[in-house]
Amino acid sequence: MTDIRHQVADHLRFFDELGVTGISRDAAWRKRAAQSVAGFQSQAASSQSPVSTNELPAPGNQEPPRPAPRIPRPDVIHIARSSQEVLDAIRAEIGPDCSRCKLHTLGRRQIVFGVGNPDAGLMFVGEAPGGDEDIQGIPFVGRAGQLLTKMINAIQIERDDVYIANVIKCRPPQNRNPDPDEVETCEPFLFQQIDAVRPKVIVALGSFAAKTLLRTQDPISRLRGRVYDFRGAKLIPTFHPAFLLRSPDRKRDAWEDLKKARAILQDRDE
Ligand code: URA
Repeated sequence: MTDIRHQVADHLRFFDELGVTGISRDAAWRKRAAQSVAGFQSQAASSQSPVSTNELPAPGNQEPPRPAPRIPRPDVIHIARSSQEVLDAIRAEIGPDCSRCKLHTLGRRQIVFGVGNPDAGLMFVGEAPGGDEDIQGIPFVGRAGQLLTKMINAIQIERDDVYIANVIKCRPPQNRNPDPDEVETCEPFLFQQIDAVRPKVIVALGSFAAKTLLRTQDPISRLRGRVYDFRGAKLIPTFHPAFLLRSPDRKRDAWEDLKKARAILQDRDE
C-alpha cells in the first residue's frame, strides 16, 4: 500500500474506533470538520446561529485572542479496547483464507487461531495444528490436546480459563516441523496474541515452541527447568504432550514445570 493509502486507512480506523460511522456530504460540515476537535463545539454552535456583524465587539473592546486549542493527535491517543476485541481484530487481520505462506497450498483446511480466556493469566503455546485441530479449527483437541487438558486440570485450573495458541496457525503437511519462512510469516500474529492477552505465565510446549520463542538451538532438555522473561511474562518451557504420550517417564518433569507455573501465578515460590 502506498504511504498516503496507509495514512487514510489509519485515519479511517481511528474514526471507526471513536464510533464515527459516517460523514455528511454537506459542504458546511466538511468545513467544520476541518477545524480542531477542541474548537468543534463553538464552531458547531456558531454555524447554527451565525453571529451578525452588528454583534461583533466594538473596536477597543475586543477580547484578547485566545490561545490556539491543542489538537489531540490520533497517534498519541490511547483507545482502550478489551483483550477480546484485540484478539478479534488480529483474527480478522489474518482473515479466513490467509495465503501469506505456502501452507495454504499444502492441504490445510482452515486457520487454527487460538482458544480460551482472553484475559488468562496462563497461556500455552504449541507448535502447529495437527490433523484434529485442522478439522475442528481449535488448538490441542486431539490426543495430545486431551493430555494437555489433564495437565491443566492437574494444577487445579480449567482449560477454559487459560489461553492456548500455536506458533503457526496452519497445519503443515504430514505434521512436519514448520519451515523457517512459515514461522517468520506467522509468528508476529502469535506475538500480537500474547500482547493482547498479557498472560503472567507462558508455558512453551515442546522443543519447537521453546526454541522458536527463545531464539535458541538449545534442546528442550536443556531449556526446561528454568524460567525466562518473555514479552512481559514468565516463560516456562516444558515437554510437548505428544512427546509425553510417547515418553510417559518424563511426565514427572512436566509436572514440576507446571507446579512452577502455578506458583508464579499465585505469587509464591515452588
Ligand atoms: N500439537 C501442537 O503443537 N499444537 C496443536 O494445536 C496440536 C498438536
